Amino acid sequence: MNTEQEKKAWWKEAVIYQVYPRSFADSNGDGIGDLNGITEHLPYLEKLGVDVIWLSPVYQSPNDDNGYDISNYRDIMTDFGTMEDFDRLLAEAHRHHLKIVMDLVVNHTSDEHAWFVESRKSTDNPYRDYYIWKEPKDGKEPTNWGSCFGGSAWQYDETTNMYYLHCFSKKQPDLNWDNPTVRDEVFDMMNWWCEKGIDGFRMDVISMISKDPSYPDGEVHDGLYGDYSPYVCNGPHVHEYLQEMNRRVLSKYDLLTVGEAAGVTVEEAKKYANNEGSELSMVFQFEHVELVSGKIGKWTDEKPQLKDLRRILNKWQYELDGKAWNSLFWDNHDQPRVVSRFGNDSDEFRTVSAKMLATCLHMMKGTPYVYQGEELGMTNIYFDQLEDYRDIESINAFRQYTGNGLVTEEDMMRYLGEISRDNARTPMQWTAGENAGFTTGTPWIKVNPNHIEINAEAELADPDSVFYYYQKLIALRHSQSIIVYGKFEGLLEDSDTIYAYRRTLDGRTLTVACNFTASEQSCDLFDDLAGEELISNYKEHQAGRLQPYEARVVLA
Ligand code: GLC
Ligand code: CA
Repeated sequence: MNTEQEKKAWWKEAVIYQVYPRSFADSNGDGIGDLNGITEHLPYLEKLGVDVIWLSPVYQSPNDDNGYDISNYRDIMTDFGTMEDFDRLLAEAHRHHLKIVMDLVVNHTSDEHAWFVESRKSTDNPYRDYYIWKEPKDGKEPTNWGSCFGGSAWQYDETTNMYYLHCFSKKQPDLNWDNPTVRDEVFDMMNWWCEKGIDGFRMDVISMISKDPSYPDGEVHDGLYGDYSPYVCNGPHVHEYLQEMNRRVLSKYDLLTVGEAAGVTVEEAKKYANNEGSELSMVFQFEHVELVSGKIGKWTDEKPQLKDLRRILNKWQYELDGKAWNSLFWDNHDQPRVVSRFGNDSDEFRTVSAKMLATCLHMMKGTPYVYQGEELGMTNIYFDQLEDYRDIESINAFRQYTGNGLVTEEDMMRYLGEISRDNARTPMQWTAGENAGFTTGTPWIKVNPNHIEINAEAELADPDSVFYYYQKLIALRHSQSIIVYGKFEGLLEDSDTIYAYRRTLDGRTLTVACNFTASEQSCDLFDDLAGEELISNYKEHQAGRLQPYEARVVLA
């Protein structure tokens, strides 16, 4: 295939909006967001101009990990409503020109799923091999692996005197994908949702479905448990299983598929997201949001450097070019808020830095994802007491690492303030009113007090708001094919302060420059450039320089 001529696809031209239903909008006053709440706000999303909604899991779940622990794939979580509510949401979304992508969580189920309830009953139960069971080794866990949410990745089960594997919480047992019956079940369930008319899947930790059959011990980084990643991520049969899924499900419909690919390398991504379409449309890689790590992994307050960020993002732009398709994201329900992480959430610079970050990402090649509230410039919440946190990962990490004396409580609270997933999960800020207009009841997690200033109502009334800036970026992607299909070339690749690049298509060039600092920086990229300014977060420019957090995009 001619690499200059990128194959067209609707999902390459689309912008995706992620909804975390628990925190989006509560329609019945129980303090928990729900499906009817989402349906009510479809006109808002249509106004923003996005094409697709990715719904974090809405299936029946005991909520050990907020819906990422599914007990019934063909039913809706009681907190969120009913299947009728879902059908109405899907139909209404389509009427508002919005597609719906479901979260597919099939690396594991809940321990309350009927398959697991059966599986743990006896070694000869027909469901036994749906999960990964191992004999004790020297009376202990089969390997030294630590779970992602603290403790061992193995849970002992008295009934049969064996351990089961759970890469996440002990209420999230890993499915055994090597069992063909498990694959049949998963593919049947996926076809069932496709027949309902959904438009795609975001696949939770899909890179982890095929485990190294030798189950060796992992390297110990935190002084406590072994790292399972090399034996779990991108395992021996993962591409084979995804190709089978593609043949048996995905290829029968016109879907957007995005795999959450923990530990993915560019070489692996070229297989997952290959241009022939034999696996997925694209994957999420995480290198750019995992730039800094300390002695206890991601828990640190060290700030990432622009040079590192650019090196990673540019690498993905260059390496996938013409071979596979990129996804583009700053935020999701597992990440802190981007304006607090890579921008500046002070009163003075919040708006301008939020717009700069949006420009930097949305002008790149790939499919952009916007996480709820990002389009308002929502910030981290910086809870000051552990009791305010709801996230299993944050709470367990606090206990594990302060309990072992690896860090002080004070340091750990600061790390949570910077990194905790709950920063993304505080309620969507709709109004300046009580509970930010999210609920009339008591919200399941505290609302950020800054909703008085930062909220959708205020931004919809202000033509200079972050909201309208995102609206414009999204509209530009729809009207300018150079933004979708143009070739990417990095500029000023040694700069410590400016992120700049160029896109080219059919003899035209798009020049993008973003100042990542709160001070003026010299930059002559635009001085001799005659062209049309497509978007900028400043009305006036200065020759030879970029103002604090200034972003400029010129088409010539
Ligand atoms: C993914 C999800 C995360 C969840 C985990 C286990 O990383 O994004 O929220 O906790 O998988 O399902
Ligand atoms: Ca509710």
